[in-house]
Amino acid sequence: LLGPGDEPIVLGVTTPEVPVRVPTTRRYLMCPPEHFTVEYAINPWMDPTRPISTELALAQWTELKETYERLGHRVEVIEPVPGLPDMVFSANSGTVIEGRVLGARFRAEQRAAEADHFRRWFLANGYSTVVMPERTNEAEGDFTWTGKYLLAGTGFRTDPLAHSEAQEVLGVPVISLQLVDPRYYHLDVALFVLADDLIAYYPDAFSPGSRQALRRLFPDAVIANAEDAACLGLNAVSDGRHVILPVEATNLGEQVARRGFEPVYVDISELRKSGGGPKCCTMELRD
Ligand code: ARG
Repeated sequence: LLGPGDEPIVLGVTTPEVPVRVPTTRRYLMCPPEHFTVEYAINPWMDPTRPISTELALAQWTELKETYERLGHRVEVIEPVPGLPDMVFSANSGTVIEGRVLGARFRAEQRAAEADHFRRWFLANGYSTVVMPERTNEAEGDFTWTGKYLLAGTGFRTDPLAHSEAQEVLGVPVISLQLVDPRYYHLDVALFVLADDLIAYYPDAFSPGSRQALRRLFPDAVIANAEDAACLGLNAVSDGRHVILPVEATNLGEQVARRGFEPVYVDISELRKSGGGPKCCTMELRD
């Protein structure tokens, strides 16, 4: 019998536990899209005949940068270079883990010169270990650090031999994943890390074997749907609590909210015309 003040015991009902997500302060490297345009096509999103507003791209980029700053993160800025319209996608130019830098080697000749501008930025900003890769390597476009493994994409850009190179240079275990859909030509448009050992991904972007490997490694992963992927919703950035993602990715936003994260939506429509989203514009400096 219940006495006064006793809580009734309800049998058979369990409330699913939503963990409290704690953000950690990050340091990012970004490049303003002052020279942004689409004048060549190296992925299916790019159509050089479509008009581009550099001004709108810059406004959206500024909003993204200010969002990070409002959340307490530090943003470093590298000077954009005329004639390198894709330099805004700073994530493609370096993989930094524990202060060691593995630079980039672009597949497309139009982007090749970006790699050295970033190499020089690293050297001018106190990084002593800066290794430039031998093999085609589009850095955080195809490499994602989970805190334990370096997930590594291949199929369209980064050479699979760059995966073992990354393991040797960075000294972290690398897991190779095969991308199969040309719209999702980089790993960072198909998968992102929410928190240590927790990822979100779009299964159809991966080969059957890679999909199975992801399922084994991350049985609790958030599974994105086709709409989330098609607005580049997987090109998201998490600080462990806040998840910055494109405003159209509402299903993904609701899903991460159910796991205790806080979706923060940004409009990146102009940069998407080049095949990029929030994450492409954001290299994480893990010092
Ligand atoms: N236009 C660029 C390219 O095709 C977009 C790169 C986007 N970056 C990314 N990390 N997915 O190379």
